[in-house]
Amino acid sequence: MVSLNRSFLYGIGFASFTWIISLYLYFQLTKNDIVANDTRVQTEQPWHKYNSINEPSQKYSSKDKSYLKKGSSNFLNSGKLIKKLQPVLAPPSHKDKVEEELMNLGIVRNSKDQEIRDEGYKTHAYNVLVSTRLGYNRSVPDTRNKLCKDVTYAKGLPSASVIICFYNEHMPTLLRTIHSVLDRTPKHLLEEILLIDDQSDIPNLHEDIDDYLKKNNMSKVKLLKPETREGLIRARLFGARRAQGKVLVFLDSHVEVNVAWIEPLLSRIAEKSSTVVMPIIDIINADTFAYTSSPLVRGGFNWGLHFKWENLPKGTLDKNEDFVKPIKSPTMAGGLFAIDKKYFIDMGEYDAGMNIWGGENLEISFRIWMCGGSLELIPCSRVGHVFRHRRPYGSPDGKDTMLHNSLRVAYVWMDDYKQYFLNQRSDAKNIDYGDISSRLQLRKELKCHDFDWYLKNVYPELALPTDDEEHLKKKMPDKFQPWHSRKRNYVAQYQIRLANTSLCVQSSKDTKTKGSSLILGVCAKNKRQMWYETDKNELVLAQLLCLQAGKSSPILYKCHEMGGNQEWKHKGGKQTPIYNMAAGTCLGVSKKAVNATLTMKLCNDPELSNWDLVV
Ligand SMILES: *[C@@H]1O[C@H](CO)[C@@H](O)[C@H](O)[C@H]1NC(C)=O
Ligand SMILES: *[C@@H]1O[C@H](CO)[C@@H](O)[C@H](O)[C@H]1NC(C)=O
Ligand SMILES: *[C@@H]1O[C@H](CO)[C@@H](O)[C@H](O)[C@H]1NC(C)=O
Ligand SMILES: *[C@@H]1O[C@H](CO)[C@@H](O)[C@H](O)[C@H]1NC(C)=O
Ligand SMILES: *[C@@H]1O[C@H](CO)[C@@H](O)[C@H](O)[C@H]1NC(C)=O
Repeated sequence: MVSLNRSFLYGIGFASFTWIISLYLYFQLTKNDIVANDTRVQTEQPWHKYNSINEPSQKYSSKDKSYLKKGSSNFLNSGKLIKKLQPVLAPPSHKDKVEEELMNLGIVRNSKDQEIRDEGYKTHAYNVLVSTRLGYNRSVPDTRNKLCKDVTYAKGLPSASVIICFYNEHMPTLLRTIHSVLDRTPKHLLEEILLIDDQSDIPNLHEDIDDYLKKNNMSKVKLLKPETREGLIRARLFGARRAQGKVLVFLDSHVEVNVAWIEPLLSRIAEKSSTVVMPIIDIINADTFAYTSSPLVRGGFNWGLHFKWENLPKGTLDKNEDFVKPIKSPTMAGGLFAIDKKYFIDMGEYDAGMNIWGGENLEISFRIWMCGGSLELIPCSRVGHVFRHRRPYGSPDGKDTMLHNSLRVAYVWMDDYKQYFLNQRSDAKNIDYGDISSRLQLRKELKCHDFDWYLKNVYPELALPTDDEEHLKKKMPDKFQPWHSRKRNYVAQYQIRLANTSLCVQSSKDTKTKGSSLILGVCAKNKRQMWYETDKNELVLAQLLCLQAGKSSPILYKCHEMGGNQEWKHKGGKQTPIYNMAAGTCLGVSKKAVNATLTMKLCNDPELSNWDLVV
């Protein structure tokens, strides 16, 4: 009752500010109009230049940088008048338009929005406010290498059953996953989508999805529910055993498939049924839902049996064609892959003795390679995945299923090398990992190579705890990382002054202290007040730490280059709000006073959230 009353009061307080929000949105809409009209005559999609960090020939020319800057600094600023005054407007970048749409979707307009957003982060670990407003049917940037567009695929590819298991997924996010598959998969290649509800306990979720599917006549989508909570691994088995297609495609429940995503996967499997293939997993930002391209990396693991991404070995990407060719990968991340159904059954499906989550991806990876198959990344197939801040659920009994499952992997597949894992996990000693006899039997029947063979032939780059320095040096992955090597690109430098005051934003401690809060101080030209804006819309204090939106206040933190809570938009000049893409709120203060702490506020209070950028 108390909280109800409070939000009701907030509601009244905010209502009187609605006009400001309308104005804000009006600027947004005007700008979008112009963009929409101009993009129609634009034939090229400029984001391709920035997102395809895989294409060395197009890396970061100075021309590109200017393009990135354009629009970001005059956000909110353009209108019809400007258009009239400037008959020769450069075409606005499609990227800017997409970003602005996302900004509108993320904006927190009132306390109700804030509540939805906060609850969503708790339950789903991503921004459900944006996800809900996005709807079920958005287009995503085509992040494939240009050469992929020239590839043609044989007729008569096998049909696929897409298997999506979920547990308490946010419904609009799940429906967007399904729509993206239906919209971007040729009908004749899609046998069905099997939607496996692993006993979700969000009230009415199952019924609501069922209703939606029926109302929209989505007969290709079959919603199924096992009788008890099975966990990801057995839920997938449950789906696989009911699938009618020749190929099984496993997807997570918070993804969006890209254009022509399935053809290259099916085509490779059609060539050789023992090849298990994976799309490149693009990044959907959990805070903003911005879709960006991933670099080409492959799957590996460490001796704690944790999956990790790593650089491709030297020489993998020498020629242009190498960017469309399949790339061998020692392991899979687990969420997204396609496999011939018969091959999946013949080679032992999944280990049904594994619980809930974890380890199954390494198990199937080792098994594929050691028992005669191969595992490949297909660069022309791209699927965006929401990289959540954490996995928002555990196992029902609170047990560490990852450890239980990893022990099964070690004891079935790793021979003497399991000792390296056991040495790392002293807590594994007395854990009961169940009966593995049928898996050992399987390994014998399939006449698999041993783990030593796997390490020598598939993953020679893996460092062993016994390696001396010379060996380690040889195994070092290619240091060249085009997406990391770029220096931060500063596009502006200014003090951030509260409008109509002489108070500027500064760090509460020195400029090097991670986690320090921000306060107002009397404006003075010193480095505690000097902000550097990057082409990724970060605000970097003294070129050291990034301004990062927190739940109620911003802090200084290490720059992570992932946008979201470190991505700030403003219109430049004077009297501008400074909006954070992830928080959906603006930089503000509670009062005009020295030492007042900076907070995150709704963007509707010019007195306390408008800023002058003082050059
Ligand atoms: C956009 O183009 C349409 C059709 O050409 C036109 O009716 C409309 O006025 C244009 N909008 C703007 C903002 O110029
Ligand atoms: C989604 O958008 C595409 C293209 O704009 C359209 O063809 C399709 O019918 C839409 N689907 C739904 C469910 O709205
Ligand atoms: C539903 O879809 C099926 C298959 O696409 C079609 O045959 C049927 O006529 C549709 N029914 C309705 C009511 O739209
Ligand atoms: C602001 O804080 C500093 C450090 O805590 C203190 O020395 C100073 O007196 C404060 N100034 C005002 C006006 O409160
Ligand atoms: C700041 O001063 C200008 C000019 O005096 C005025 O137009 C504007 O409304 C003021 N802004 C705020 C936030 O007080």
